Amino acid sequence: MNAQLRAEQVTVSFGAVKALDDVSISVSPGGIHAVIGPNGAGKSTLFNVLSGVYPVTSGTVVFADLDVTKSRPHKLVRAGLARTYQNIVLGHVTVEEAILLGRHHLTRAGFLRCALRTPGARAEAKAARQSVHHLAEMLGLADSLHRIATELPYGDQKRVELARALAAEPEVLLLDEPVAGMNGHEKDEMTELLATIHARGDTTMVLVEHDMRMVLSLATHCTVLDFGRVIADGSPAYVASHPEVLRAYLGSAHAPREVTP
Ligand SMILES: Nc1ncnc2c1ncn2[C@@H]1O[C@H](COP(=O)(O)OP(=O)(O)OP(=O)(O)O)[C@@H](O)[C@H]1O
Ligand SMILES: [Mg+2]
Repeated sequence: MNAQLRAEQVTVSFGAVKALDDVSISVSPGGIHAVIGPNGAGKSTLFNVLSGVYPVTSGTVVFADLDVTKSRPHKLVRAGLARTYQNIVLGHVTVEEAILLGRHHLTRAGFLRCALRTPGARAEAKAARQSVHHLAEMLGLADSLHRIATELPYGDQKRVELARALAAEPEVLLLDEPVAGMNGHEKDEMTELLATIHARGDTTMVLVEHDMRMVLSLATHCTVLDFGRVIADGSPAYVASHPEVLRAYLGSAHAPREVTP
């Protein structure tokens, strides 16, 4: 595992709003890198830039040997970059289909080979089904495989999103608020699940999260954004007691007591 993801001096402007202002971030392979900051700080914009969804106004973004700003999203997925979204984007498909979609780039059999059910296409379909069932088992979705994904409880939909991203077998996985909207028990379960997946040793994670308890228990590195700028970068314990960080969180919905280790 050695795919590097990094942004250098990235600025993203939306009209007069600078969502990101000269932001540099380097994600080391193998860790769990948290990105935190108050609402509107630019966290999701940074994820959209890192995953090639948004163009940059200036600066560079590199993943493996690819210039992210010039690469189509499916090329980035093929190179090993997958993500989940802050707002769930599952379509009107079953859980099984939603997860299978994440494997799309791993599928080689063309339409004709699939239609003719050649041995290669059959083997591929079997491997895909096994992978989906394995992921569903691991994420507690095995009983929901044939249900419409958007009809599941919110916490389960978040798990489907995660399963879909994992199905791509990414080297680097970007997670935008994976426990937002979950209750305490669901949050603990998801934290444990992410720790288990990370412990397998083949996935680097980048995590946007407001829950400092989760950040402190999972992250190996932490970057703090405020008004589109990096105000602290280092170990989670270091940034959690950084005066700039405490100041940035004053008066925020995500209160400073959550930041205090
Ligand atoms: N597509 C867009 N068009 C215009 N403005 C945008 C767009 N995306 C983000 N912004 C603005 O950029 C700033 C940063 O937004 P962003 O969503 O990145 O923040 P965030 O840190 O993810 O916030 P939250 O914690 O609420 O998810 C905000 O002022 C937001 O209104
Ligand atoms: Mg966001």
